[in-house]
Amino acid sequence: MKSKRPKRLIVGVSGASGMPYALRLLQSIPEEYEIYLIASSGAQRICKSETGIELNRSSLTNHLPEIRNENINFLSNDDFFTPVASGSFHTDGMVVIPCSMKTLSGIANGYTQTLIERAADVTLKEKRKLILVVRETPFNTIHLKNMLQAAEAGAIILPASPGFYANPKSLDDIVDFIAARTLDALQISQSLFHGWKEV
Ligand SMILES: Cc1cc2nc3c(=O)[nH]c(=O)nc-3n(C[C@H](O)[C@H](O)[C@H](O)COP(=O)(O)O)c2cc1C
Repeated sequence: MKSKRPKRLIVGVSGASGMPYALRLLQSIPEEYEIYLIASSGAQRICKSETGIELNRSSLTNHLPEIRNENINFLSNDDFFTPVASGSFHTDGMVVIPCSMKTLSGIANGYTQTLIERAADVTLKEKRKLILVVRETPFNTIHLKNMLQAAEAGAIILPASPGFYANPKSLDDIVDFIAARTLDALQISQSLFHGWKEV
C-alpha cells in the first residue's frame, strides 16, 4: 500500500524589509508540515539587522524555541541540485515572505537565477499555490507590471500592508495580521487573527 506523502511547504525569504513576518509565519506553520526554507543572502543580512535573528538552525533554536526546527530543511539559494527545483517533487505550495521587487521580477519574468526564483517558477508551472508577500513603497510601474504578470501566471499577490480595523494594540498584532492572511491564502488553518467582526 502506498504511504501518504507528508505535507510540504516551501518558504522563500528574500531581501526586503519585513523579516518579523517571515519569523511569525515559521512559528505558525502546523507541525504536520515539512518546511523547505530558502533565504537569499540579502534576507540573511536584513533579518539579522531587523530582528537580531539569523535564518539558520542554531539561531532560530536559540531565539524562537517554539519553531519546530526539526521540520525545517535549510536550503541554499544558489543550490539547484535539490528536490524543490523540480516539479516531480510534490509540494502543497510556496510563499515568498517578504518578497523583494528583485525576486518578484525574477518570478514574473521566468528568470530563475536563484533557488527561490526557480522553486517559484516550478510552483507556477505545476499550478500549485504561490503567495508573494511583496514589500516596497511606493511602487513604480515596473513593480506594478511585474505583480500583474505574476498574478496572471497564477500567483497571489499579498502586499505586506496590515489592516487596522481590528484595532491592533502592538507591533505583534500587526505582524500577526500579515502572517495570518498569508496562512489563509495558503489555506492553512491559523489562530493568529480571525478577520473582521461586527461589533
Ligand atoms: C535594509 C534593506 C532593506 C531593503 N528593503 C527592501 C524592500 O523592502 N523591498 C525591496 O524590494 N527591496 C529592498 N531592499 C533591496 C533588496 O535587498 C535588493 O534589491 C536585493 O538585490 C534583493 O535580492 P533578493 O531578492 O535576491 O534578496 C532592501 C535592502 C536593504 C539593504
